[in-house]
Amino acid sequence: MNDLIWINGEILHISDARIGVEDRGFQFADGVYEVVRFYNGKSFTMREHLERLTRSADGIKLALPMPIEQLQDEIVQFVPRTGMREGYLYLQLTRGVVERNHRFPKHASHTLLFYMHELPPPLEPGEGEGLKLLPLPDERWKRCWIKSIGLIANVLAKNEAIAHGFDEAVFVDREAVTEGATCNIFAALGGKLVTHPVGAKVLSGITRMVVFDIAAKLGVPIDERPLREEEAVRADEMVITSTTREIAWVARWNDRYIGQGKCGPITMKLHRAYRERVRTATRSHARVAPIVGAA
Ligand code: PDD
Repeated sequence: MNDLIWINGEILHISDARIGVEDRGFQFADGVYEVVRFYNGKSFTMREHLERLTRSADGIKLALPMPIEQLQDEIVQFVPRTGMREGYLYLQLTRGVVERNHRFPKHASHTLLFYMHELPPPLEPGEGEGLKLLPLPDERWKRCWIKSIGLIANVLAKNEAIAHGFDEAVFVDREAVTEGATCNIFAALGGKLVTHPVGAKVLSGITRMVVFDIAAKLGVPIDERPLREEEAVRADEMVITSTTREIAWVARWNDRYIGQGKCGPITMKLHRAYRERVRTATRSHARVAPIVGAA
């Protein structure tokens, strides 16, 4: 069982790790995070996650305390020590512990930590009941491209969805479906996939990026534009994407069935290709080409 954490260069038992009361992550949500999937003891798209971490940190005017190559080495050395082969690495970077003040500290400080979490085995394409999504107004800030630890709007939305018997909340910003509380979203309409562009209201999901790559190879066109809620309701198919859930099919949008509540052919095709991509990338000694267009 995993109980280790890497924190500012030290490896400790998680119960021995201590964060200062004046950590700016704790007091101001002044920090960013990443979630990196591990299969068979190997990371999937780690480089892309660490590049996004750099962009997120930059977005809050914070520099990574070490180059990403070194960070990647630290992670690669740490994970086998946990004994975990299936799960995800949670990584968090904050502006560190300094006397409480809204102003940035004069001298750079940080808290960087990561540890592993277990996950159940991924669902096979078409497996499971299909997700039920609850649309809710997008009340988040306009820098959703930053993977900020300030997630209270997402947490409230997710819990509202669950309280009403749904699996996930989806944000709607003036008629446009932006993303889920914890995922990106794609709708299939007339053979095309539609998904909102990344930016103010949408995180540049790494799984989303893999889906773009796979769809191009499969010849499935993607229309990157705001998806209107009235289009979402009559979509032929719908999926959500995230590191922890890969590509998950949607059965219901509020009180309406999507694709008669069944997993559709485009979803099956995409998820099969995604599973294959994971298997290839996480086999022993696999060398993986970076995703084209990763930004
Ligand atoms: N969340 N949008 C939001 C708001 C998210 O929180 C996530 C992922 C995504 C998908 O990004 P990616 O494909 O890179 O995982 C999109 C993670 C898994 C989490 O917070 O646990």
